[in-house]
Amino acid sequence: MKPAGGALQRLARALRRSLTAQITLAVTLVSGVIILLVGLTMDRILASELREESELLLVSSLMILREDLAASGNDPAAVPRLVARAVQRTRRLEAEVVDEQQGRLLAKSRRFRVPPAALPPQALAAETLPSEATVPQTEELAQRYGPLTTLWIAPDGVRYRVLRARLPLPATQGQPPRTLQIALAVETTPTRELRAHNRQNLAVALCVSAALAGIFGLAIAREIVVSVRRFGATASRIGASDLHERMPLEGAPTELVESTQAFNHMLDRLQNAFDRLSAFSSDLAHDLRTPLGNLLGEAQVALSRPRSAEEYRAVLESAVEEYERLSRMIGNMLFLARADRQPALAAHWVDLAEALQRVVGYFELLAEEHRVVLQMRVQALPGAEPRVWADESMLVRAVSNLVSNALRYAPAGTSIQLDAQPATDGSCTIRVANDGPPIAPEHQPRIFERFYRADAARHHSASGSGLGLAIVRSILELHGGTAAVHSAPAGPTVFILRFPGKPVPPSS
Ligand SMILES: Nc1ncnc2c1ncn2[C@@H]1O[C@H](COP(=O)(O)OP(=O)(O)OP(=O)(O)O)[C@@H](O)[C@H]1O
Ligand SMILES: [Mg+2]
Repeated sequence: MKPAGGALQRLARALRRSLTAQITLAVTLVSGVIILLVGLTMDRILASELREESELLLVSSLMILREDLAASGNDPAAVPRLVARAVQRTRRLEAEVVDEQQGRLLAKSRRFRVPPAALPPQALAAETLPSEATVPQTEELAQRYGPLTTLWIAPDGVRYRVLRARLPLPATQGQPPRTLQIALAVETTPTRELRAHNRQNLAVALCVSAALAGIFGLAIAREIVVSVRRFGATASRIGASDLHERMPLEGAPTELVESTQAFNHMLDRLQNAFDRLSAFSSDLAHDLRTPLGNLLGEAQVALSRPRSAEEYRAVLESAVEEYERLSRMIGNMLFLARADRQPALAAHWVDLAEALQRVVGYFELLAEEHRVVLQMRVQALPGAEPRVWADESMLVRAVSNLVSNALRYAPAGTSIQLDAQPATDGSCTIRVANDGPPIAPEHQPRIFERFYRADAARHHSASGSGLGLAIVRSILELHGGTAAVHSAPAGPTVFILRFPGKPVPPSS
């Protein structure tokens, strides 16, 4: 018992794994069940029609006998002759007629053998029958009197459908009135054989159609699986070096078009991320090489001959500057790498005036040095403290990066505007504006990228690494906000930070 169960389980597991086997089995089973249902219905219809035919034969034979008797003047002596004629006329018919009053057997066909106990309990009143027998009429009779016939199986297995009727004969030539007990039987074995034959045909049709359905199902399943396999083969061919390759949409089955498109979009995103990553690593290598080259060069020159203590000091002082720049750059890169991993924010309501004042405080001396004025304007909603929902240190860092850039580009004698504007929905917009050279439209969409610097002349300079605005964008993205720039030849360059406000918890 156990090994059979194990084999069955293995088969079920194999079936669950194979799409081809599942589809083939499903098509075979469904078509088999449909054919079986149709066949069984047809068998039932055939059985009921064959029964109706036997009943019709019995009822019409009875009526012919009644008519023949009437034609022979209702003479009981004519009964044997009339019964013989009826049996001769209808091959499968057998009959027996008994005189009810005398209890005498008037006629019995040679092969009639139905015992009295097997006769139907209900005797049909033959005088009430219509002169012509049709299927609807026999149905009506059955409704009126109950089942007209019974089935009797002889000991040797031959089957008979049996009918019993009573026929009153009027008094004739001094003879008293009498009643005939008539029993008619029709052999139904041939109809049964017909049904058995029909069932055999059904079984053959079932096997053939199941086999055909299985073959068709297999072909359909193969076709489906081939498409899926083609999909998989292309997918497995695509590596890092050919990320530009896409799944072909032509010839793909409609059902696979959507997943093919989704897969192609995923490749687009992967390629994009991959391109950015390679650009990032080459920029990184380039930006690290410049300060390291400077440091190496200065150290080699210093070591080329003996120097005084002041000279060594000057070399070290200049090296410290480079070290600071390198350390700042590595710090910025670490910040961006951490921001990429979406760290949890320590967000709370931050007093806008206080936060911006901190930034102004940091840059006051530098601004003075550049002869630039820092102006701060914090607007407030009526009856409310101006505030923003943010991680305070990140907010200060983002605004500081903007002010640091503005100070680099604002001409002496101008001012830098820091403007904060909270809205009723809890969101807040912070603007940092400076006069100075505008950012060309082609650079504007790219200056927020890592290591991107718009100013070609400054590209290799040691002053900036091009990470400041990338950090600004990362900070705003962590807050669910946006960072944008407006810069045109006529007006100031304005950086706009939008903080969306306190997020609504998903449950409410
Ligand atoms: N206020 C501004 N006016 C004109 N150009 C600007 C301004 N702010 C930024 N830019 C341009 O955008 C580029 C990117 O700025 P970002 O702050 O990312 O880098 P950086 O300032 O060069 O270096 P870092 O900030 O890492 O020290 C700058 O190199 C500059 O070309
Ligand atoms: Mg900067």
